[in-house]
Amino acid sequence: MAEDITSTLKEERRFPPPAEFSGRARVRSMEEYEALYRRAEEDPEGFWAERAQELLTWDQPWEQVLDWQPPRARWFVGGRLNASVNCLDRHVATWRRNKAAIIWEGEPGEVRTLTYLQLWREVCRFANVLRKAGCEAGDRVVLYMPMVPELAVAMLACARLGVTHSIVFGGFSASAIRDRVNDAGAKVVVTADGGWRRGGIVPLKDSVDAALEGDACPSVEGVIVLRRTGQKVAMEPGRDIWWHELMETVDATCPPVSVDSEHPLFILYTSGTTGKPKGVVHSTGGYLLGTAWTSRMVFDLREEDTYWCTADIGWITGHSYIVYGPLANGATTVMYEGAPNWPEPDRFWDIIERHRVNIFYTAPTAIRAFIRWGDRWPLKHDLSSLRLLGTVGEPINPEAWIWYHRVIGKARCPIVDTWWQTETGAIMISPLPGATPLVPGSATRPLPGVIADVVDGDGQPVDGDQGGYLVIRKPWPSMIRGVWGDPERFEKTYFSQVPGTYFAGDGVRQDAEGNFWIMGRIDDVINVSGHRLGTMEIESALVSHPAVAEAAVVGRPDDLKGQAIVAFVSLTGDSDPSPALGETLRAHVAAEIGALARPEEVRFTDALPKTRSGKIMRRLLQDIAANRDTRGDTTTLEDATVLDRLRKKWDER
Ligand code: WT7
Repeated sequence: MAEDITSTLKEERRFPPPAEFSGRARVRSMEEYEALYRRAEEDPEGFWAERAQELLTWDQPWEQVLDWQPPRARWFVGGRLNASVNCLDRHVATWRRNKAAIIWEGEPGEVRTLTYLQLWREVCRFANVLRKAGCEAGDRVVLYMPMVPELAVAMLACARLGVTHSIVFGGFSASAIRDRVNDAGAKVVVTADGGWRRGGIVPLKDSVDAALEGDACPSVEGVIVLRRTGQKVAMEPGRDIWWHELMETVDATCPPVSVDSEHPLFILYTSGTTGKPKGVVHSTGGYLLGTAWTSRMVFDLREEDTYWCTADIGWITGHSYIVYGPLANGATTVMYEGAPNWPEPDRFWDIIERHRVNIFYTAPTAIRAFIRWGDRWPLKHDLSSLRLLGTVGEPINPEAWIWYHRVIGKARCPIVDTWWQTETGAIMISPLPGATPLVPGSATRPLPGVIADVVDGDGQPVDGDQGGYLVIRKPWPSMIRGVWGDPERFEKTYFSQVPGTYFAGDGVRQDAEGNFWIMGRIDDVINVSGHRLGTMEIESALVSHPAVAEAAVVGRPDDLKGQAIVAFVSLTGDSDPSPALGETLRAHVAAEIGALARPEEVRFTDALPKTRSGKIMRRLLQDIAANRDTRGDTTTLEDATVLDRLRKKWDER
């Protein structure tokens, strides 16, 4: 991946912000950006305290802005607030009560608009439902739902009670649900009878049933089921209850529970170097501030905007930039349930035209798919409402950037390429659209308050254009607060490479102008269509199949997905390689983790390349998977003949 992105360093095109945009933007010039950056660098606590005062409503003021005992940060110590109050009640108290909070479109085509007042009522009622189900502050609730307004309702209802939500992306399988429910110790699971995807039904409830089968998840006391598709599902007496039946039994008001600023708002599982996904914990005060402030600055969000982020709420992008950030700002956020190419490849452009979307935030992998589907789809639609475009999830190749700029933005709309992570909670490196000259392929400069740097393998700062590892030197409000139930892993993963400094796990270069060029993960994480998957997770899924003795998984550059999964597999004595077995193993991984983890290719081998100490040499496998010459040193290889054998696919031998 790194090699392929390096070519972007030759990118010399610059796109200064259009004068019309800058003229009314929140930050109008690089001078203003620099001044803000310096202010935040010189007095971070003063800077963030001002933002927290300006953007959030507190029930009780903080006594101390920051308590930083690396790797533990506490922001707005002693302060108390409620996230649902910040996203709802304070808007309901103004004229915004009748403003659209969520404009939702289901895949089959129905449209629902919830005003702030309507959303607030639903949230209060569902909070009462959760309370009736025995949930109280500090409990965990898992949400495994389609992209429907009720998902946002359930999140905000949890927040109203101080219940920590943990959303499991609807594409994950039963065993992934089971692991997350158990790790979080969830008391209740909220799901639906299904969700629509490309005209078919995703059987969410069936997966929950499989996950909870027998006594697999002893912490779960109840399952609340939303009727979305009308699909018949099994309801287990004493455990499963319909959402709509419960909603009829409760009040439409629910007093919010004021929580400590550091109270865990949610846990979101993400892949890392070891086999088990880690539960990234986010706080209430700091997280909400980070998402509210970046929504406003990066998207130049204003009162009259209709804003659309196409992510699934099951990922951090949806948490921060469909729900918390936009709603904290009192904005109108669009939510769409289904696929971009259903019923036709112009669904997104149709949505933009019909709802007059002004700000559109999507992923490079989607843009590459649009390019492939052809210009005629966007050209069929009036996209003149758009004023700002954004991307997130992986580096964007300059060709895709230029297409996005020309065909979607008609060379009028700035593009914000936003670098951040599940762990950072909010955008960290990004242009400010009224100020920053855009550079296709670079997320440009860190936001004010973000002290980003490039270090070498010893943690020493790297000069100029050399490339190294991305670190963030100072704590920031929306930073990860911990790995649920595993403080050691938290410290080891993020704060041990350079003690006391956040290690992002990305390779990066900084050019002479100060622009950051993200080159992709340096750990055992593969980025498939902007989704993060651990190689170890997929390997454990593979070896759980009786035919597999050993497996090694790597990413291969892919024009559409960014990276594609390639699995090298050696078999147990009584199994023989065959295309059918390859298919079986691909399906096995999909069943174990979810379709997004299904390997693109399974290659059988009699042995994996290992060092003399037994470590699999993934770098070599990456070269083989990408069909390129092996880079660097192979002298530590235990058996050099393995390489030649690996290069040939089993059926070519
Ligand atoms: C990884 C984090 C947070 C949004 C969704 C992904 C890669 C993210 C960019 C970007 C280059 C990017 C990084 C990062 N990434 N945005 N604009 N340019 N790379 O969240 O699943 O936690 O993945 O996504 O490699 O470490 P995530």
